[in-house]
Amino acid sequence: MIICVCRRVSDRDIARHARAGMSFDDIQFELGVAAQCGRCEGCARDIVAQCSTVHPMAALQTGGGQHEASAWASSLV
Ligand code: FES
Repeated sequence: MIICVCRRVSDRDIARHARAGMSFDDIQFELGVAAQCGRCEGCARDIVAQCSTVHPMAALQTGGGQHEASAWASSLV
């Protein structure tokens, strides 16, 4: 769903950047969300707040790193 009509930024775009650990200000700079009329700012901030509750490092650690490590270890045997 488009959150920022002025810049055509979707909730998925905002969520993806927030899950990567970016702050609202970083996302605003990167995507331009809430940088024109500003009507979308509250909704965009809510999405960032919801997605920022997940610790980004936890997502990275469970994102296949262990699988790669075991594949690397088995290639040494
Ligand atoms: S709707 Fe986002 S700046 Fe206008």
